[in-house]
Amino acid sequence: MSTLDQSFVTNGSWKPDLFKGKVVFVTGGAGTICRVQTEALVLLGANAVIIGRNVEKTEKAAAEIQQLRAGAKVIGIGGVDVRSVESIAKAVEVTVKELGRIDFVIAGAAGNFISDFNHLSSNAFKSVVSIDLLGSYNTAKATFQELRKTKGAYLFVSATLHYYGIPFQLHVGAAKAGVDALSNALAVELGPLGIRSNAIAPGLIEGTEGFARLAPPSEDGGNGLRDKIPLQKFGTSRDIAEATVYLFSPAASYVTGTIEVVDGGAWHIGSYM
Ligand code: HXC
Repeated sequence: MSTLDQSFVTNGSWKPDLFKGKVVFVTGGAGTICRVQTEALVLLGANAVIIGRNVEKTEKAAAEIQQLRAGAKVIGIGGVDVRSVESIAKAVEVTVKELGRIDFVIAGAAGNFISDFNHLSSNAFKSVVSIDLLGSYNTAKATFQELRKTKGAYLFVSATLHYYGIPFQLHVGAAKAGVDALSNALAVELGPLGIRSNAIAPGLIEGTEGFARLAPPSEDGGNGLRDKIPLQKFGTSRDIAEATVYLFSPAASYVTGTIEVVDGGAWHIGSYM
């Protein structure tokens, strides 16, 4: 079921046809955060392709997102693993054939689990780095020629884990630090081509797999973390979607090479733990 609805357009902060004629290509688009990012862009006029490993989940999510706006085209391409650049390149071909172009890319596919260093095998570390970092590189690589034509924009989904040493997350922190470096370097290299590259770093976002794993509620329903966040609340996927709309909008046309932290100010107080 979709999180956003028409009220995002009618009562929201953005003009309805902001992304009319634009096409967004999203990895991990059937997951929580990237799905809501896609919903927002589609509600504001974009068409979309979402790719994922799970065929049924990806196609179902695409069909549901398409329902959000009359005339929207949202295609779900399952069976795509971001660890294979060829696999993404095939999805790019389908996107261009069906939707004609790619203006925006969200590299959001991610893998994660909790493990201490002692029990984290070399292969487990490699799996997460391959999905999160190599997968982001592969996504950028496979979509580059299309973004070049449209002078489009990349958005990498990062994290704040690597701003400090979060225990049991060293694999993800290492990968996301690399994602930030990738985005920053692309901003500099591709700026002269008119391509922008930014990252978004969500904090604790309710309703996500990451939240359930990293911040499970205690028996009283709280978990002691909320009070430590300066804004005194957890984030929502909509918060990430709003920042995404801004970063792809003309309002951010001079913004590249930034890492937009959307975490209620949490990382400034240090580790959550
Ligand atoms: C320790 C584990 C493990 C665990 C897997 N491994 N799960 N080690 N604890 N819980 C090890 C395996 O034993 C194996 O090592 C290696 O990892 C690869 O496992 P596979 O199952 O073969 O890998 P694969 O099928 O490619 O799966 C990738 C995955 C998996 C990352 C391990 O969890 C996955 O596909 N996740 C996708 C969905 C997901 O995680 N979503 C959450 C996103 S949330 P050995 O040595 O035995 O071969 C998120 C938020 C991040 O990313 C930011 C948080 C703030």
